[in-house]
Amino acid sequence: MKNNFKDPEHFHSPWTFSKIVIFFFLLISLSYLLYSLRFVSHSFTDCDQNPLSSITHLSETRSFPSDEESPKPIEETNLSHIVFGIGASSKLWKQRKEYIKLWWRPSEMRGIVWLDQKVETEPGDEKLLPQLKISGDTSNFKYKNPKGHRSAIRISRIVSETLKLGMEGVRWFVMGDDDTVFIAENLVKVLQKYDHNQFYYIGSSSESHLQNMYFSYNMAYGGGGFAISYPLAVALEKIQDRCIQRYPGLYGSDDRIQACMAELGVPLTKERGFHQFDVYGNLFGLLAAHPVTPLVSLHHLDVVEPIFPNVTRVQALRRLMVAKKLDPAGLIQQSICYDKARKWTVSVSWGYAVQIFRGIFSAREMEMPARTFLNWYRRADYTAYAFNTRPVSRNVCQKPFVYYLTNAIHNKHTNETSSEYVRVEPNPKCRWKMEDPTQIERVEVHKKPDPNLWDKSPRRNCCRVLPTKKKGSLVIDVGPCGEDEIVEL
Ligand SMILES: *[C@@H]1O[C@H](CO)[C@@H](O)[C@H](O)[C@H]1NC(C)=O
Ligand SMILES: *[C@@H]1O[C@H](CO)[C@@H](O)[C@H](O)[C@H]1NC(C)=O
Ligand SMILES: *[C@@H]1O[C@H](CO)[C@@H](O)[C@H](O)[C@H]1NC(C)=O
Repeated sequence: MKNNFKDPEHFHSPWTFSKIVIFFFLLISLSYLLYSLRFVSHSFTDCDQNPLSSITHLSETRSFPSDEESPKPIEETNLSHIVFGIGASSKLWKQRKEYIKLWWRPSEMRGIVWLDQKVETEPGDEKLLPQLKISGDTSNFKYKNPKGHRSAIRISRIVSETLKLGMEGVRWFVMGDDDTVFIAENLVKVLQKYDHNQFYYIGSSSESHLQNMYFSYNMAYGGGGFAISYPLAVALEKIQDRCIQRYPGLYGSDDRIQACMAELGVPLTKERGFHQFDVYGNLFGLLAAHPVTPLVSLHHLDVVEPIFPNVTRVQALRRLMVAKKLDPAGLIQQSICYDKARKWTVSVSWGYAVQIFRGIFSAREMEMPARTFLNWYRRADYTAYAFNTRPVSRNVCQKPFVYYLTNAIHNKHTNETSSEYVRVEPNPKCRWKMEDPTQIERVEVHKKPDPNLWDKSPRRNCCRVLPTKKKGSLVIDVGPCGEDEIVEL
């Protein structure tokens, strides 16, 4: 049997086909006619209308107020919007005030050092330090932690006590200890990311996994410093004294803050540039492989060794501040590259140190901090940390050649910083038959300051080993990576 539907000849008889063609022709002509008429009528009405009257008409039909159309430019957060609240003890004031002098800028910053009792002031100190105040009496509060000290209550209340001073134009309260060193430019950069009109509690955890378990991974460690937005400080102040009474068993001031934050339902916003440094020994591994985020604070500087060898703690930090002044955004930012001809791996921590390794290490190894430090219980335990670390190599040939910052300057002609790093510790003898970095005594690093580094998505800078005729020197350029530039040999 023939299937009609499959046979085109039967389906479209010649008579029906011509009908369809005529129908389509008519349809198209009609649409064209209608379209043209519409166009003509429109242009007539447009000509009739006064352009001004059409604008009035537009704004009349809008329901929202006119300033919505051009919102007021929001002023970026700067140092003047921050008030520091520093928790200090009269007993340690004499040494600790030296740490504050390293970062405090009296004419530009606002803040209070809150003490337990009056301290002797040395002449000249007034001009170099924040205003000193004595904290309110807390003897009526319960404190029942067997290991801690009841000064925790006093220090916890610094947020409320600072708020009650009623300073104007405050967006953020930033808390810290008397042994916290802030990199103010980077603190401002970090806070600029957040809306100060909302509730924010910003800081970082401890390096110690056990400490974080014991206290909380949701707690901002007080020594590393933390920031509380103005409206959150207002909300906290209203409840803080009642809240503190609910937690007499807690240990410190920062866990008391966190307990109140939990009651307010405000989580910790983590920023990895705040450093509690709950470690012992040598910070080198941590400072040589900083995460790709601005350095905001350093803490426990009395606990760890001086960050540069053979100088006092304060002298060492003062040296770091020389580099900080030239390019705060780039401070201790890591870049990794290879000396291709000599098969060396080079890791720069700008403004702090340069390392040269024999052989090729991958970027993923180099960006892991080497365990040059001990954990908070003074043990070398690789399971102790809340982040990845790598062991210090036992092989004498793989021990890095370390060059520490000696000086940094800004060159007006090239608009570049030039920082110098020198080796102070000898390396052990190695029998590998490859080029030996022992001949390199100093490293020179050139870098353009980049104040906008953190306005872009986070990315490590690239470094390049430059050809040089200077004997005993390695010259390196650090800057944004070029197109297709990655860390490879
Ligand atoms: C900081 O911002 C305020 C406005 O909120 C402005 O008046 C002041 O000049 C700014 N300061 C600096 C140093 O930019
Ligand atoms: C450390 O300092 C002392 C005295 O200032 C000096 O004699 C010594 O050579 C220095 N050591 C190193 C490794 O720089
Ligand atoms: C130098 O570099 C800085 C940062 O990139 C820039 O703001 C400044 O305008 C530059 N100055 C000159 C003279 O090129």
